[in-house]
Amino acid sequence: MNQPTTAGRTPTAPLHDAARWRKRFPILANTNYLVTHSLGAMPDTVYEKLKLFTDQWATRGVRAWAEGWWDAPIAVGNLLGRILNAPPNSVVMHQNVSVIQGLVASALDFTGERNKVVYTDQNFPTNMYVWEGFKKLGAKIHVVKSPDGIGVPTEAIVAAIDEQTLIVPISHVFFRTSFMQDAAAICKRAKEVGAWVLLDTYQSLGCVPIDVQALDVDMVCGGSVKWLCGGPGAGYLYVKPSLQPKLEPKITGWAAHAAPFAFELGAQRYASDARRLLHGSPAVPSLYAASAGYEIVQECGVEAIRAHSTKLTEWLRGELGSKGFRVTSPTNVAQRAGTLTVALAPEEHGPAFVGALEARGILVDHRPEAGLRVSPHFYTQQEELAAFADALTELRTTKKWQDFAKTKKSY
Ligand SMILES: Cc1ncc(COP(=O)(O)O)c(C=O)c1O
Repeated sequence: MNQPTTAGRTPTAPLHDAARWRKRFPILANTNYLVTHSLGAMPDTVYEKLKLFTDQWATRGVRAWAEGWWDAPIAVGNLLGRILNAPPNSVVMHQNVSVIQGLVASALDFTGERNKVVYTDQNFPTNMYVWEGFKKLGAKIHVVKSPDGIGVPTEAIVAAIDEQTLIVPISHVFFRTSFMQDAAAICKRAKEVGAWVLLDTYQSLGCVPIDVQALDVDMVCGGSVKWLCGGPGAGYLYVKPSLQPKLEPKITGWAAHAAPFAFELGAQRYASDARRLLHGSPAVPSLYAASAGYEIVQECGVEAIRAHSTKLTEWLRGELGSKGFRVTSPTNVAQRAGTLTVALAPEEHGPAFVGALEARGILVDHRPEAGLRVSPHFYTQQEELAAFADALTELRTTKKWQDFAKTKKSY
């Protein structure tokens, strides 16, 4: 089926049937939803997943632990792992990326000569907060600066990774501009010098194809809130199987024990498999809800999602450019993931634009020192992007965004 088009505009080539998928997302019935980079729309199957959870609790009670709840972090990790092409039982589920970064950091020894931690100043801040805290235990943080606030040259990050480097915990895609780092080059360099990479794919997985085995990456983490349409409370951690036995996180708990239901006293005796990377009782409802997102993303296929996304972001970039807007996300699609960031003039107020667009039924967001972020996903149609571009033009021309100048929205 052809992409729906807007009269007078150049149609995109037939590609992918967004109309087929959008029926599965209730919010799309009445909202122009262009904010997947922040919170992906909810698939309708989340209702069933959460009903299953409540039915289990209501009717099976404590037996539910042995009937799926206790194993949920591995079972759901396996489902997610298929999107990463991860081997079975190499992904465990946690609550979020912050917890995962802390857990990985707690498994490292910073007291030797190899104590350098390398990332960029475009890393998602939560990761920096965690690693900065480990300076007290000997970590030396090396931050590679972006020359333009958009991206970081691959040569600069590769040059910073040396024989003193212990780990490179970096965002695959930068949250402000959607700049995509060359993960293969970074993994290759880290391997040459014996450092580990912890790739944060929060802003890429579900929108950009990722194959952990082809990349030969050591560890990958992320959450499900955005492109995976899985909602909050479901962070994933992949660790290469050969690396798993080397990790003994100090942030740990009984779910990571070799025999949790033996209730042994004393020090941790780590499970021999990926369970050693767990901690306490799992957040079962979040994991059930997230599985709905993983299923629909796999059903659609990330290759198809990427092709649709690229086509639409390219179209929107051209449209915004012709209307006089400056898009700061990379122009090279190979260096850009699913979001476009639109710069505003210094006198313009980002949250006011967000409020004014919301009043017109269009959801986007704003980030300081970046601009408005807008993203199509596999359920987005070109006419929705056209409506956004028109509304933005109208707001800038009429200055009606000023009616929302007191907006303090933050999402
Ligand atoms: C790249 C990246 N990492 C991490 C996070 C969030 O981390 P957490 O799961 O701890 O909330 C975000 C959220 O926007 C992000 O974009």
